[in-house]
Parts: sequence; C-alpha cells; structure tokens
Amino acid sequence: MTDRPIPDDQPLHAAILPEEADPAAHDPARRRFIKLGALAAGGGLLAACSETSLSSDPRSAAPAGQQGQALPSATFAQSRQILSEPMLQNPGPDSVRVVWFTEAEAGRHRVFVGEQAERVFEATTTRMSQMLEDSGSQVFERPTAGLTTPEPRAVFRHEAVVTGLTPGRRVPYVAVSEFGGAAFRSSYAYTLQPLPRPGQPLKILLSSDQQNNRMAAANYQKVAETIGPVDAVLFPGDFVSQPNRASEWFDRASVNNPSFFQSLQGTMQRWNPSSPYRGGEVLQFAALYGCLGNHEYPGRWRLDPRTDDPENTGPKSINAMDNDPQPRWYAEWRYEQLKATINPTDDPAFREKWIADNSFDFATYREMWSLPEGPEGKAYWAQRFGDVFLISLDANRIWRTWNPNQRGKFTEAFDNGLRRVGDNPAVWGFGDFTFRPFGPGSRQYAWLESVLRSEAFRNARYRIVLTHQTPAGLGDNAVPVQAIQRVTVELTDGTLIGPFLATEWPQRWPEVLDRLRAGQVRYMRYEYPLDADLWRTAIEPLLLEAGVHLVHCGHSHLWNRTQVGAMHYLETANVGNSFGAMFFETPRSGVSPGQGPRPNQPGNASWRNATVNASPQRTTLTWNPDDYPTFGDPHRRPMAMPTIFNPMRAFGQAEEDVPFIASNVLTAFSIFETATGLVSSYVFDTRDPSGPVRKFDEFRIG
Ligand SMILES: [Fe+2]
Ligand SMILES: [Fe+2]
Repeated sequence: MTDRPIPDDQPLHAAILPEEADPAAHDPARRRFIKLGALAAGGGLLAACSETSLSSDPRSAAPAGQQGQALPSATFAQSRQILSEPMLQNPGPDSVRVVWFTEAEAGRHRVFVGEQAERVFEATTTRMSQMLEDSGSQVFERPTAGLTTPEPRAVFRHEAVVTGLTPGRRVPYVAVSEFGGAAFRSSYAYTLQPLPRPGQPLKILLSSDQQNNRMAAANYQKVAETIGPVDAVLFPGDFVSQPNRASEWFDRASVNNPSFFQSLQGTMQRWNPSSPYRGGEVLQFAALYGCLGNHEYPGRWRLDPRTDDPENTGPKSINAMDNDPQPRWYAEWRYEQLKATINPTDDPAFREKWIADNSFDFATYREMWSLPEGPEGKAYWAQRFGDVFLISLDANRIWRTWNPNQRGKFTEAFDNGLRRVGDNPAVWGFGDFTFRPFGPGSRQYAWLESVLRSEAFRNARYRIVLTHQTPAGLGDNAVPVQAIQRVTVELTDGTLIGPFLATEWPQRWPEVLDRLRAGQVRYMRYEYPLDADLWRTAIEPLLLEAGVHLVHCGHSHLWNRTQVGAMHYLETANVGNSFGAMFFETPRSGVSPGQGPRPNQPGNASWRNATVNASPQRTTLTWNPDDYPTFGDPHRRPMAMPTIFNPMRAFGQAEEDVPFIASNVLTAFSIFETATGLVSSYVFDTRDPSGPVRKFDEFRIG
C-alpha cells in the first residue's frame, strides 16, 4: 500500500529517512490477519457478513485470511455505521485501551489480541453526550441544509481494556463490531503495546491543530509512509474546530477539509474518494497524548431549555454556541439571580449543569479521550512514557476578534444609537478570558510545582511539556500575551472604574452592573500587558529551573521554534489554515501573505495615542501599543533558522531564508526519537502528491 515517496534523483534527499519508508517493514506484524480457527477458540465464531453494497476502502481488498477462514469478510469500511478504525489510548504498565466509534449501539463489540487471536476483550459502550450536526455540517450522503437548529447525532464509543501485555513487545489486534445481524472487523490487524519500558527506543510524532485543515490528510499520510508506525502522538490541542459537530471527527465529506480520524487513521478516501490523499494509519498504532486547546472548549450549551438564560436569545447554531463562552464567575452570579425559579430546591447537580451550560465545558474531549488524570481530571495531567516524562497543561483562553467596537479581545460591542456599549451583559464576552487559572495561587500551578519536584520527573531522561497557546513564537496568535486582563470601565461622564484585574470581577461586578443598568457605561477596555505575561513571568521560570527540555505548543498553525536557556519551544502545527508568522515589520513582495505585520489597528478604540481622537470619538481610553507588538516574537526572542535547508525559500514561498513555515501548500511534521534525543522536522509540498518528503530541521534535546 505504501508508495515510497522519495525518488533518489532529487537534490535534497540525503536528509530523508529512507530506510523504513514502508510501515510493513518497520512492523512485520502489521499485515498479518488473524485466523478464524484461533478466533473460535478465543471467543466463538462470528458470522461472516455478506454486505457488499457500499464502496469499500481499496486497501481492504488485502487477502482475507491466508490459512483457514478469516474474520468476517466485511470490513469497517463497508458499514457507514462504523465511524472510525480502532485506536490506542492511555496505556498502562501492562495494558492499553482500544477505542472506536459507531453510530450503531446494539450488538457486541470486541477486540481480539495475539498472533493467534487467543485473547478476547469485550468493549464497554458509552454514548457521546454532545454530538450534533446542523446546517453548517458537511456529512457524507446526508443532507444537512434543512437543519434549522442543531440536531443530536448518535455516536457510540467502544473501549476495550487490553491487559496482560509486556512492555517493549507489540502484538497484533483487530476490532470486531457485530450489530444488525452482521459482523465487521477493522480493515487490518494493527499492533498494540503497553507503556514502553525504560530505554525502549521510541518514535514520537509531534503535531497539533488538525481542525479539518486542508493539508491534514497529506500530512499524516506522509508521516505513515516516511516514518512507519510511531509509538505516541503528542497533540497540544485544537483537535477539531467545533468539537460537538460529529462529522468534524468522523465522516465529513469535503476533499479539502478532512475530518480528524480520516486524516489520522488513513480513511480519508472512504468518505472522499476523489481526494488525492488518504491520510495515515497513525492512531491505530499509537496512543495520542493531548492537551486542551481553546477549540476543546465549546461555549454556552443552549440545547437544554432548562438551562437557557432568558437574556441570551441569540442563534443556536453549532458555530454560534462554540464561540460563545462566558466566564464561570458570571454564570455563577447569574445562577444566583435565577435560582429561585429555575432550581427552587437548589439541587447541586442541576446548579453545576446550569453553570457549565452557561459558561463552558469540555465534555466531548473528556468523553472521547482516555488520558491520564490530574487533580482536575483530564484538564491537566502528568505521565511517564518510556524515557519521556510528559506534562500536559491547560493554559487556554477564548479567542475573540481583534475588531474594536465589537465583543472582542479589547472591548464589548458598541451601540451606536445609544453611544455606549450594549447594556445586556448576558451577551458580553469579557475579552479573551482564561478558561482555567494556571498562574501562581491556582490549583494547577501548585500541582505543576509538585510534579516538577517529583522523583519521576527529575529522573526522566526527557522532560516535555504540552501547552496549546503559543507561549513563544512568531504566530499571529502569540499576541496579546497571556496576561490576566486589566479591566477599565469608562462611564459616560468620563470617569473610570479601574483598572482592576479580571480576577476581581466578582467583587467589582455589582458596581459595574449598577452603572450599566443606568446607561452610564460608555466603553470597556481589556488590556493584556506584555510585562504581565503569565507564561513568561511565572511558568517559564519554573520550567527552566526544573530542566524541562521541550515545550510543544500549537495555536498559530505554523512551524517555528526557539530556545530559551536549555529549553526549546516548538510549534509544528502547519497542517493548513496558517495564521501566519508575523516576521516582517512591513509587508514585502515575494513573501506569502500573512507574514507581517499584525493587523492591530482597531480604529476608534485605538492602541495609539496619536489616533485616539479620530472621529467619531467613542472613548478616551487608549491602549499601550508596546503591549501588542506588530511583528516578531512578543518578547523579541529570536527564532531558530531551519538547520538543514529553508523550506519557504526552497519551495518558492519566500525570496529569502526565514525562520518558519507559514504556508497553506507546504505541510510540516516533527518526530522525536528517544534513542538519539533528536527532534527532526519534515516538509512536504502538497501540490505534488508524488513529491518527496524532506527533512529540513533537526535539534537535540536531553
Ligand atoms: Fe488552532
Ligand atoms: Fe488554538
């Protein structure tokens, strides 16, 4: 199945990994099919399925049973009710979880393990609680244009805990689902393993921000073809864009926007036959370790009438809900206002649901991924994985628009008719507020300190931190920095309330609300001072002191890296929809659009004292332009040039060498190899499906 992508006559090929381009060579067990005779001994005969009406994945035409009878002849690809191939999650010392998804619940779902399929593990089935489709969905053979409101979609998750495994030894497995009188197996026997043993050489994929981005299928296909099966995937956030839209995960029909599992399981052409790329079989062999990104936090859930806030009556599309969180303190205050009517007994479970539905939650992430857990569940955690110690942080905030007179980063929507901000706080945004505190004094910070002191962390050969939002780098999303907001309220008589820290909102709210109700609030200012960057001032010093080797992030959809002391930062998320690397102070010819400067000139709510008096005057408030650098890393740290060759220049995306890939035709991925400590980055030009994969950068950690 694997095309070797690297012809020998290309000039830059010396830097490529050519030896194991065929995954089957890397893992001979991969293509072995499990025999039914052994299956019978392990778990009883399965009825072969004769359903052939659906188009099948061409790769499923591989020999079905070489000796004796095979597993059910129908594969997962032949039932549209099966939404994913099986994948590995959260391995333990002698175990790993095998997970897959179907639309059919009834039946039996099992995993067969071993060379002779001698062991059988029953799966536990749960229904995903927030899976939806609406008119914004693109679902395979399922019209959605008529959906005026989001409609629940049945998605069932099957998880079998496979036990009795030996570290360092992969064994074959296959998933089988039976329902509707038929049985289906996953296409191939994949292989699984528990947590690696110390010293076990590992290949770990570093990636991020799939989000149905157009180069994702090409990207992960090239990972599989070039590297073969990897041992883990480190994925710091933004799995999809709207996590409650089922088709973004499974069966999206869009050649240019593969769903998450289509690209990371090599099933793109199952739903998009005309796609030149099929994706890569990655998650079938490798546990994914993620961290929350801003896109893992959908906003207010407004599909349960019991928890609707009557003052928030806007549209209820998936996208509208997704980008509409409010701070938890606000939901708690609002609940107190309404509780006598909505929850007269003050039932704590209903209270918690009301507050979650009216602020934010990450239910789909929690339900989809089996992960290690920290003191606040899956929100942040630490885990040893072979010679690597992983720390996953939740340092996220909502992303809002740069625009000046809307609910955005910097203020609330301005009502021109009233010459003041809108006076319904139920639709305010409160700027780019932080979802979960992570600075000093927070539960997460105390936990991080204790993890960094632990023996397991200190003794690890490699120490890696996952965090989503660009803590260092050129990305457009690196600005504004992650400071706790400074809030200023400008009244119509010109006086000010504040500035005060956003953490003081609950105490300040009664006074601000009184003024708001009286029509006296003219403008809001949310500031993010550069010198109050929480990551830079509080987290980075801790990590440096503790000897963290690598911070792996995402969020700006590009490739770039830098080094601070002995610690490296790497974003390797260029799978499409790049937000650009703000590298040049002024736009210049010969460079891809979006390479600078940032568009931070928000009109009347001006950054700049010089332009604040532009008419019409709406505010006397100004923002300090120094807090919002228009180009470069916000703290002016230099980014590393690729060490092997410069992809942007080599592929005609820039006329000079630049320290980044920000492109919607070039895609990049990175591989960390524990045997050598090398982090190697590869680039592929998606315009030529038969083109080479080239290694362009390498650095060593540990
Ligand atoms: Fe993203
Ligand atoms: Fe993001």
